[in-house]
Amino acid sequence: MIEAVQVSKDFGHPPTRVLSGIDLKIENGDFVSIHGRSGSGKSTLLYILSTLDHPTQGEVSFDGQKVKEMSVRDLDHLRNTQIGFIFQFHYLLPELTALENILLPPRKTGQQEKFRGRALELISQFGLKGHEHKFPGQLSGGQQQRVAITRALIMNPKYLFADEPTGNLDYQNGLMVLEILKEVNATQGATVVLVTHERDFSSMAKREVLLKDGFVV
Ligand SMILES: Nc1ncnc2c1ncn2[C@@H]1O[C@H](COP(=O)(O)OP(=O)(O)O)[C@@H](O)[C@H]1O
Ligand SMILES: [Mg+2]
Repeated sequence: MIEAVQVSKDFGHPPTRVLSGIDLKIENGDFVSIHGRSGSGKSTLLYILSTLDHPTQGEVSFDGQKVKEMSVRDLDHLRNTQIGFIFQFHYLLPELTALENILLPPRKTGQQEKFRGRALELISQFGLKGHEHKFPGQLSGGQQQRVAITRALIMNPKYLFADEPTGNLDYQNGLMVLEILKEVNATQGATVVLVTHERDFSSMAKREVLLKDGFVV
């Protein structure tokens, strides 16, 4: 379970409050969408929940372990093996093929050969068969995002965070991304936390959290 207790976040000098005392519990296996207007603090909250950023006040814990009390090593381990992240822009490396991009996370620990089979399975599951040796520039936007999702899933993460993963896609490709997230949640039991400002996609989650001016409404 991910738990945020009284999480607040300030930016700048003088400080501007972006998140105000957020309490949120996300059970393992849940599929939560965080929605709200642009500037309401969705990305900030997602980055804090996913350990990529730290709250100014309050704390986040994973299965009862407080992030701020974890050692650098434990935190690295959590990020590398249990957390997958998908962004609005895919951040694929242009000089690597789709398959090489997907195998970047296991490559960090010299395990790319071990994960090759799983990569090819996911590639075929997400409709990318035949594209594995293409470079990102040779793929459509929807295909690029599915490569990025495959990369996020390669280590079989327990938690998957997605920040506006459909923001750059047309409706059909956006729907495909949502279907993949639902499937990963249903079949692999991954906990999914999705940020979106699109109501159609937000309502596909099991639970919706509305953010307004830094508060959960
Ligand atoms: N690194 C930062 N430095 C200063 N202000 C920031 C930073 N990140 C976000 N903000 C501000 O915090 C507010 C919330 O941003 P964000 O979480 O990105 O909202 P959303 O994702 O809902 O559009 C915005 O006013 C934004 O300008
Ligand atoms: Mg955002």
